[in-house]
Amino acid sequence: MDLVLLGAPGAGKGTQGALLAEKLGVPKIATGDMLRDAVRQGTELGRKAKQVMDAGQLVSDDIVLGLVRERLSSDAARGAIFDGYPRNVAQARSLEGLLGETGRRIDAVVYIDVDDDAIVRRMSGRRTDPDTGVVYHVEHNPPPAEVADRVVQREDDREETVRHRLEVYRQNTAPLVDHYRQAGVPVHTVDGGQPIDAVQGEILGLLGK
Ligand code: AP5
Repeated sequence: MDLVLLGAPGAGKGTQGALLAEKLGVPKIATGDMLRDAVRQGTELGRKAKQVMDAGQLVSDDIVLGLVRERLSSDAARGAIFDGYPRNVAQARSLEGLLGETGRRIDAVVYIDVDDDAIVRRMSGRRTDPDTGVVYHVEHNPPPAEVADRVVQREDDREETVRHRLEVYRQNTAPLVDHYRQAGVPVHTVDGGQPIDAVQGEILGLLGK
């Protein structure tokens, strides 16, 4: 299965993507996580991406395409859950081209819908384990005691940057819902304001899993 998770920053794509990857047995391709890894490792790509990410802008399509291409010919050769990618119509077309090379196509899109104020509240409470990439929330999904000391807050989770990321999302990424509908791909909308387990249950139900 090739599945795209769409939704604003903080809608819960990473959280749901990790649960779905485990349930469906396909890897999650999260370009944000891959870019943050490159930043942590101090690679040239990471150095280029850091400033752009901290400002809440989109990294260039070419950089991201290179990252995804590599995964599609390795661990994701038989299917993937795309989280945070594609981010604009050009990236969606590149992905269609890449998948088409091996006779694959996007099977379904899940659009996780959450209102802006809830998103800003979520981001301020988000914490990530830098060793495993697991995402927590100080209230809704607190980190267990053994990792509580090492979890960190993301640089781009300050309220001002989050609001800018929401604008970037509205301009660049939100049009993908119509793009996929017009391409005849099933687009399932879920209410991402529910508790994490309820969102997961609704997604699995919509996918018939
Ligand atoms: P990226 O890492 O993709 O960030 P994003 O899309 O902005 O999404 P987030 O990771 O912030 O949120 P999420 O929807 O995954 O929510 P989460 O599950 O964490 O991108 C970061 C940057 O990288 C971009 O700004 C850009 O610069 C660059 N980039 C990445 N991909 C790119 C691309 N393709 N092209 C160009 N540039 C790219 O949940 C958020 C919080 O809420 C967590 O604390 C979680 O525990 C909590 N939570 C989740 N669900 C619920 C719930 N149902 N109820 C209560 N709390 C919940």
